[in-house]
Amino acid sequence: MSNRAQWGTRAGFILAAVGSAIGLGNIWRFPYVAYENGGGAFFLPYLVALFTAGIPILILEFTIGHKYRGSSPLTFARLNKKAEWVGWMQVLISFGIATYYAVIIGWAMSYSIFSFNLKWGDETGGFLMGDYLKVGDVGPAGSFVPGVVIPLIIVWVIVLGILFKGIKKGIEVANKIFIPTLVVLFLIIVIRALTLEGATTGLNAFFKPDWSQLGNASVWTAAYTQIFFSLSICFAIMITYSSYLPRKSDINNNAFITGLSNSGFELLAGIGVFSALGFLAVSTQSEVADVAASGVGLAFAVFPQIINQMPFLNELFGFLFFASLVLAGLSSLVSICETYIAAFQEKFNISRTKAVAIGGGLSALISLIYATEGGVHFLTLVDQYVLVVGVGLAGLFEVIIIAWGLKKVKELQQYNNSLSDIKIGAWWVICLTVITPLLLGYMMVKQLIDDFTAPFIDGYPLSLVIPWGWVPFALTLVGGIVFATLKWKSAEALETNKSEEVSS
Ligand code: ALA
Repeated sequence: MSNRAQWGTRAGFILAAVGSAIGLGNIWRFPYVAYENGGGAFFLPYLVALFTAGIPILILEFTIGHKYRGSSPLTFARLNKKAEWVGWMQVLISFGIATYYAVIIGWAMSYSIFSFNLKWGDETGGFLMGDYLKVGDVGPAGSFVPGVVIPLIIVWVIVLGILFKGIKKGIEVANKIFIPTLVVLFLIIVIRALTLEGATTGLNAFFKPDWSQLGNASVWTAAYTQIFFSLSICFAIMITYSSYLPRKSDINNNAFITGLSNSGFELLAGIGVFSALGFLAVSTQSEVADVAASGVGLAFAVFPQIINQMPFLNELFGFLFFASLVLAGLSSLVSICETYIAAFQEKFNISRTKAVAIGGGLSALISLIYATEGGVHFLTLVDQYVLVVGVGLAGLFEVIIIAWGLKKVKELQQYNNSLSDIKIGAWWVICLTVITPLLLGYMMVKQLIDDFTAPFIDGYPLSLVIPWGWVPFALTLVGGIVFATLKWKSAEALETNKSEEVSS
């Protein structure tokens, strides 16, 4: 393990961490989640989640990744062998997310090409579901949809190509190109959106607070889930990325830069998307509430409508928007896959090439299931259960085990402060030991009760929710425990820690 790969520069690490954080979650998920959960009033739960859980957990993950120098399972195993399963659960959640995340990037890739001749026509919703995705009945997979399979293969070729090249030559180089390009593209989009007629109508809808929503527990759960997904925390990514930091690295500064850049970008995305929605509402004489739609619908049905309505350079605006989704998505997908590649490599003592081929190849193969006529239904369910339920629980297990079970917070605080310019004090300790476990614990119990008692998402029958929702979620938990019982193939894997820890 002494030859562990490392980032070439501090900027390289920060760009990779920011590249992981900024993803599909920022551009199509955040604006709608914020709007649906109280508009301007969502910022309060969002900021509370960011400063009581998001940044504290990000600092925690950077600290343990750096100190124990391993993938998430190895890091948890080095913390305490009994905690290894949490690391595997997180890695398996990432594996599950990777399988459908790649598909959405594939859609964005197709749409960036469709932009050139506004191929989606006037009926953008019908085009998305019918002509493009060929969505079939709820339940059976049906045939493969070639228009989705082809971009999906291209996505995997790019992502696995980057991963084969390794940390410094692959991930670091890719992010150094992707992230600055993304920022430039996105700034152009936001400025253009802000100058459209009706932009202020959209911004008013986005920022107008609905305080009555604050008493609603689901608004708070939405804020926490958004922060976890968006910051790439609690599903193994930031632990893995920080394990490649050189020994002398500032932890807290890196965490603040990453967390604040991500939220800044998220806010920018919200401003851009809602200015454009305001424009659509005004030009079609409707209300913003009527034109806003969730996730997939917002980016792939409503945005094409906005693009259609633009006075000039519609094609260019369309291309820039979808190209930025592709770039943001690719840099995040690379980080999601790196979690299990690193974990397989260390646990089974295999080469990186083999780990990329097996881990990456397997996720690519499984992702094909979402490129079928029934794929969108599977995707919606896996997203809800593996992401919303899985990531929330994985985060809860992480803080409870580290703060309460192993009582490591003080020790980690000392380690971290010895390396960082900004020292963290009582705020960090209280957030990790009291606020986050209690708030998140309450929210997750409530979420599970809601999911168990209410039929999920309009009309999906239990016969689909069980195999595509509960089973994948259960697999991350049971699989985590099973992987943790397997022996580490390299004898020194767990011991190396001792010498490294002492020398640090
Ligand atoms: N953090 C990544 C996103 O927001 C996974 O999409």
